[in-house]
Amino acid sequence: MSLSGRTDGHFVVLSLMMVGLIGTCVYGENDGVSVGAPMVETEQEALYSAIQGFVGKWWNGSDLYPDPCGWTPIQGVSCDVFNGFWYVTDLGIGQIHDNSYPCAQNLEFRPQLFQLQHLKSLTVFNCIISPSQGLISIQSANWDAFSSTIESMEFRSNPGLTGHIPSSFGNLKKLQSLVLIDNGLSGGLPANIGNLTVLKRLVMSGNLFTGKIPESYGDLSELLIMDLSRNSLSGSLPLTFGGLTSVLKLDLSKNQIEGEIPSEISNLKNLTLLDLSNNKISGGLTFASQEMSSLEELILSSNPISGDLVNFNWNNVHRLMVLDLSNMSLTGAVPESILSLKNLRFLGLNDNKLLGNLSSRLANLSNLTALYVNGNNLNGELKFPKEFYIKMGRRFGAWNNSNLCFPIAKSYVSVRPIGVKVCHE
Ligand SMILES: *[C@@H]1O[C@H](CO)[C@@H](O)[C@H](O)[C@H]1NC(C)=O
Ligand SMILES: *[C@@H]1O[C@H](CO)[C@@H](O)[C@H](O)[C@H]1NC(C)=O
Ligand SMILES: *[C@@H]1O[C@H](CO)[C@@H](O)[C@H](O)[C@H]1NC(C)=O
Ligand SMILES: *[C@@H]1O[C@H](CO)[C@@H](O)[C@H](O)[C@H]1NC(C)=O
Ligand SMILES: *[C@@H]1O[C@H](CO)[C@@H](O)[C@H](O)[C@H]1NC(C)=O
Ligand SMILES: *[C@@H]1O[C@H](CO)[C@@H](O)[C@H](O)[C@H]1NC(C)=O
Ligand SMILES: *[C@@H]1O[C@H](CO)[C@@H](O)[C@H](O)[C@H]1NC(C)=O
Ligand SMILES: *[C@@H]1O[C@H](CO)[C@@H](O)[C@H](O)[C@H]1NC(C)=O
Repeated sequence: MSLSGRTDGHFVVLSLMMVGLIGTCVYGENDGVSVGAPMVETEQEALYSAIQGFVGKWWNGSDLYPDPCGWTPIQGVSCDVFNGFWYVTDLGIGQIHDNSYPCAQNLEFRPQLFQLQHLKSLTVFNCIISPSQGLISIQSANWDAFSSTIESMEFRSNPGLTGHIPSSFGNLKKLQSLVLIDNGLSGGLPANIGNLTVLKRLVMSGNLFTGKIPESYGDLSELLIMDLSRNSLSGSLPLTFGGLTSVLKLDLSKNQIEGEIPSEISNLKNLTLLDLSNNKISGGLTFASQEMSSLEELILSSNPISGDLVNFNWNNVHRLMVLDLSNMSLTGAVPESILSLKNLRFLGLNDNKLLGNLSSRLANLSNLTALYVNGNNLNGELKFPKEFYIKMGRRFGAWNNSNLCFPIAKSYVSVRPIGVKVCHE
């Protein structure tokens, strides 16, 4: 999408033009002595036209890049040889590099894009930016042309890209990565995406998607990453999610998801991250019915989950390093069983309704570097050793617990936590 990958624009433009001339000569006279394999003319024209559709009519590919898979590479375009001819395999559109061309105001997905016969990867980044570009949507026709070739599709940071996900995406059988981040896409998530059995990465965060998460997504047994965060998805978590047996990261945060966390989640033995924060999930902490032996980060904050910490089997999630259970209307005590989480680095229990004393044995968790219990109803004395307060510094939050106090002793004054009153003798 740009004249060069280097900073010295003038020099490179010049040399590209010279190379271009030579390339044209060689190409014309002698089948690829120096350019290697030739490029089928229809493929080359399709590439020029597809790019021109995004960049603008002024962009003349055959002038600027006479040999796009050889002597005059186009930034964002990669090629490979099939049956002795060059074909485009990767196409990156938009401001991927500092010196890339911006996309045109009146850009279009030209039909020629779909004539690229061996396209494996399409990226449209930072391209459809301003609303003045009009309401540009991903057209629904033509995608079937890619059904046996495309492996990766990415539309990222295109706030001007609106409309629905075409249901024809569900026919892209080779798709391993579908990334639609920070666009203006809306509507429901197509159920037939669940047919894409080789999908490894499904990322649709930061759009305006609504409706339920399709049950069929639980069929994606090879999926490693599912991130549907920052949308307006509603309904409950599909029970079928127990079928996501390979999944490593599941992020559904910042939606309107309600209902309970299904215990099927604990089938996900390879899950390392579960982030369901900022939803409307309720029903208490009941889900870890089996050992989730890989789970390292559990983030459930800002949900009306309620319930307590006492009846959860913390041993089932003993690998946890990050546990954020803040603002969940939790009641009851902070149980000693939480001390079985020996690898904890971050523990957020703030802004709940937790009661009772805080065990000084939390200081035994040697990796713990952040502990937030502020905004609860904890009481009694804080009895951590001085070294603990020093180690934690401002990453220990205990304010707004009206009956919690700090036992002052001379050597302690300097480490008194913010917002905690001194105990009466
Ligand atoms: C590009 O320029 C050539 C002449 O340099 C011209 O023949 C051709 O029509 C132009 N193509 C487009 C798409 O403008
Ligand atoms: C694809 O998914 C849809 C909806 O989930 C389903 O009805 C359809 O039969 C599937 N098609 C194929 C070819 O698997
Ligand atoms: C889980 O991870 C292990 C180790 O990386 C791997 O061998 C195994 O195949 C994975 N399980 C699934 C269902 O993907
Ligand atoms: C706490 O969670 C509720 C939803 O349960 C949310 O509306 C509220 O904004 C959250 N508060 C903070 C400070 O995050
Ligand atoms: C603490 O962190 C270190 C370094 O990351 C790690 O090797 C260790 O296993 C962790 N757990 C405990 C209980 O120290
Ligand atoms: C845990 O901490 C307590 C006091 O805070 C101490 O007496 C005890 O020895 C510690 N246990 C371990 C296993 O470090
Ligand atoms: C626990 O809290 C109760 C009630 O505030 C208090 O009487 C007791 O001293 C506390 N125990 C410890 C060990 O701080
Ligand atoms: C304590 O809570 C009050 C209201 O509940 C809030 O205004 C104040 O900012 C909180 N204090 C701190 C230190 O967060």
